[in-house]
Amino acid sequence: MTDVPRDLDRYFSENAERIRSELFDLLAIPSVSARSEHDPDTRRAAQWIAGSLGAAGLKATVHETPGQPVVVGEYRDAPAGAPTVLVYGHYDVQPAEPLELWTSPPFEPSVRDGRIYARGSVDDKGQLFLHIKALEAHLAVRGKLPINVILLAEGEEEVGSVNLASFVEAQKQLLRCDAVVISDSAMFAPGLPSVLSSLRGLAYFQIDVQGPAQDLHSGSYGGAVVNPAMALARILATMHDAQGRVAIPGFYDAVRDWPAHVREQMRTLPFRDEDFRAEVGAPGLGGESGYSVLEQLWTRPTCEVNGLLSGYTGEGAKTVLPAKAMAKVSCRLVPDQDPAEIERLMAEHVRRVAPPGATATVTPLHGGRPWRAELDGPLYDAARRALATAFGREPVITGEGGSIPVVGDFERVLGAPVLLVGFGLPGENAHAPDEWMSVENFEKGMRAIAVLWEEISGDYHSQY
Ligand code: BES
Ligand code: ZN
Repeated sequence: MTDVPRDLDRYFSENAERIRSELFDLLAIPSVSARSEHDPDTRRAAQWIAGSLGAAGLKATVHETPGQPVVVGEYRDAPAGAPTVLVYGHYDVQPAEPLELWTSPPFEPSVRDGRIYARGSVDDKGQLFLHIKALEAHLAVRGKLPINVILLAEGEEEVGSVNLASFVEAQKQLLRCDAVVISDSAMFAPGLPSVLSSLRGLAYFQIDVQGPAQDLHSGSYGGAVVNPAMALARILATMHDAQGRVAIPGFYDAVRDWPAHVREQMRTLPFRDEDFRAEVGAPGLGGESGYSVLEQLWTRPTCEVNGLLSGYTGEGAKTVLPAKAMAKVSCRLVPDQDPAEIERLMAEHVRRVAPPGATATVTPLHGGRPWRAELDGPLYDAARRALATAFGREPVITGEGGSIPVVGDFERVLGAPVLLVGFGLPGENAHAPDEWMSVENFEKGMRAIAVLWEEISGDYHSQY
């Protein structure tokens, strides 16, 4: 195993403090894409990223979309024949609520016990920023990069990347590349660098049930008028069978079996159900029977309630028959499930099971395709060597239960392989209070990515 090149390593060490304080400036911007009142902040984050790319020595442009802007940084001065790599990340973050559960305020980054606490520290500002700093290090120390780089940062990942697929289609020429590299995921365990081989897809819905024209006295009317909260509960209860399988007819039709060698690989990972249960703090585990926890998380589709709203939920008791009820429901998808087809099946199913006397409507909110890759070829060899150099340990291949909607679009539209190499850790509290990123992983991540560019250029020169 080789070491991180001395000049790059020294740059990261000597500039560690400045790099940290710049990261804190980015983390302090509340770029919450789900909330329109934060639109000015989200735009400010886009400008901030563009400024940071420019300062690193890339040509930065900000592209308007119907939603949040897309920021593109370009370096195209690599030697003839060098490959072009597209780096993708997102500068938007999830809402920080409930605020009272944060130990320190979400947009006032602070370091405790080797962790950077802030909303977006790991998902994904910290990981996006370490890519910018890896590029900066090459350009500052050596005056050049061994590969061409396009860095694309979007501001709508956390709300389903609804405008990104069409941006990628429209900018196919600008984004043409030989490989895509993304750091927006986690390592399997501390000290264990990881390369992702799969992501689940997503189909997200809102289900509204409308009963009487307005709230009613539950004594004067209850018993004769259908209660929309109960109607919604009955609808939701039809979505799983007793084995924990999704009971929407046709839901599994497109599901492909996972390759035996990938399932075998999964069994070699250090994982104990009991540790997992303890980490999430639940009294027990559940889900689809007949599958291990990792299989449930990575290889099987789901249907989950993400939110429920109806009736009186304040202090004390109020005897009311609510006029309406609402649920946010999402399905995680696996290859080859198609979000559009799942939308169709869900709408049909709800129509079939909705009790009479209330009107149920299903509104699709967003979706993304699942992704799975065979990890071979020069890109993955380069990643293995770069991670081994920075972390002192060969990476493991893992799967992921979460989604990054654009990954399938990159592959389809740009025809380039995608490498997902993330530096988060289990328990990082992404999307939750007290989100953190490990300082050690931030430091090693920057170095791994800086080495990756060298490894990719070497590989491509010798193999093409
Ligand atoms: N960084 C995550 C994706 C992810 C989640 C990677 C968990 C590894 C582990 C990303 O920012 C995310 O949260 N994606 C959303 C996408 C959705 C809003 C379309 C998700 O998975 O919920
Ligand atoms: Zn996220």
